[in-house]
Amino acid sequence: MKVLLGVCGGIAAYKAGELTRELRRRGATVQVIMTAGAEHFVTPLTFAALSSNQVMTSLWQPVNSDVASGEPGAFDIEHIRVAQDADVLVLAPATANFIARLAHGFADDLLSAICLAAKIPIVVAPAMNVNMWLHPATQANIETLRQRGVQIVGPGSGDLACGMVGDGRLAEPTEIADHVLAAAQRTSDMANETILITAGGTREPIDAVRFIGNRSSGKMGFALAEAAMARGAKVILIHAATTAAPPAGCEHIHVTTAAQMERAVLEQLPRASMVIMAAAVSDYQVVSPHAQKLKKTTALTLELTQTPDILRQAAQQRRAGTLMVGFAAETEHPVEEGRRKLREKGIDVIVANDVSQPGQGFDSDQNAGTIISAHDERMLPLSSKRVMAESIMDYLRTTSLRLNPR
Ligand code: PMT
Repeated sequence: MKVLLGVCGGIAAYKAGELTRELRRRGATVQVIMTAGAEHFVTPLTFAALSSNQVMTSLWQPVNSDVASGEPGAFDIEHIRVAQDADVLVLAPATANFIARLAHGFADDLLSAICLAAKIPIVVAPAMNVNMWLHPATQANIETLRQRGVQIVGPGSGDLACGMVGDGRLAEPTEIADHVLAAAQRTSDMANETILITAGGTREPIDAVRFIGNRSSGKMGFALAEAAMARGAKVILIHAATTAAPPAGCEHIHVTTAAQMERAVLEQLPRASMVIMAAAVSDYQVVSPHAQKLKKTTALTLELTQTPDILRQAAQQRRAGTLMVGFAAETEHPVEEGRRKLREKGIDVIVANDVSQPGQGFDSDQNAGTIISAHDERMLPLSSKRVMAESIMDYLRTTSLRLNPR
């Protein structure tokens, strides 16, 4: 396994030496990249000796030695090549300044450019003064990174180099190494899956301009798609109306109504090894929508009929071994309702979320819920939708449901 270790300019930079050794002990190849600030605390020679590798320090370092071969294509842009070649990138220690630059997409030195070019998992181990850690700007930057799927390890609490006591100590090298290895394994743990994910809210026409809709933004489904792709899965994303932008890198199918979503899901079903329905599908549709805009009257009566239950049908038509996952959006007794829908729809897993709570559920960046299956139930605490999506993927990957097909 190839690990990129970015060392920033803080007093805890010396502890990155122990992390280098720990990662090598566990069989990893370590490529250290130091910021200019880090070189004030530790020399590149220290890390070169500990990693048995040249240390990278500058965006303007000469390109790789293959260039001498004169072969076409031998010229590599170093920060791009390094970012592509590795399995995982860890920043330890990550200073408040570097975290801010990462959150805002700076690429003005080698380490920040590599972070921007990297499509591999990123683990950040912050270390700084307690006041700097607790500052709202740092906390907002950390939250931004979390929402993008960056894993944050620590900081720990205790005596700090500045003489103060509190949060801000670099996490222990063994703990950071545990997270780095787990993150690297995740990059390919769904490589054999083709996952069909639905997102957004369907719209059922009333007339030429009006519709029955809901508040789904698509964020939950898109977070699931991003998490699945980051683990190597092929994703087929069927999305209805959304306010968020769908992620790149997956197959997109855009639909409007529940009937269109039903057709698309059933058409794609044979290709899927897993189906996750995070879309908010309208339960009713207008029997005869008007082709023209209805004239305003004092009262309007609409005849509604139920839409098809897409998840239930897909569960009945799936091939053996296809895992079926639903979401239950509830305002009362979410877990009980989730259990009922799991049974009635004949699916393997349901994520029950309470959409009556402010700051979670519909159109929010955060969510919380309970994963329910016939085997167990697991709480998902309030977190960004991307972090929740990772927990759901962890569950779906490790669950033994596939060993006990329905
Ligand atoms: O999009 P966001 O703003 O990020 O919000 C996320 C969310 C709140 C929409 C999401 O977390 C969520 O709960 N999605 C499911 C919403 C819903 O329709 O729940 P339900 O309890 O009505 O339906 C249960 C399941 O059956 C869902 O998986 C749904 O997709 C599916 N269903 C529902 C009706 C229907 N006719 N066919 C279906 O397949």
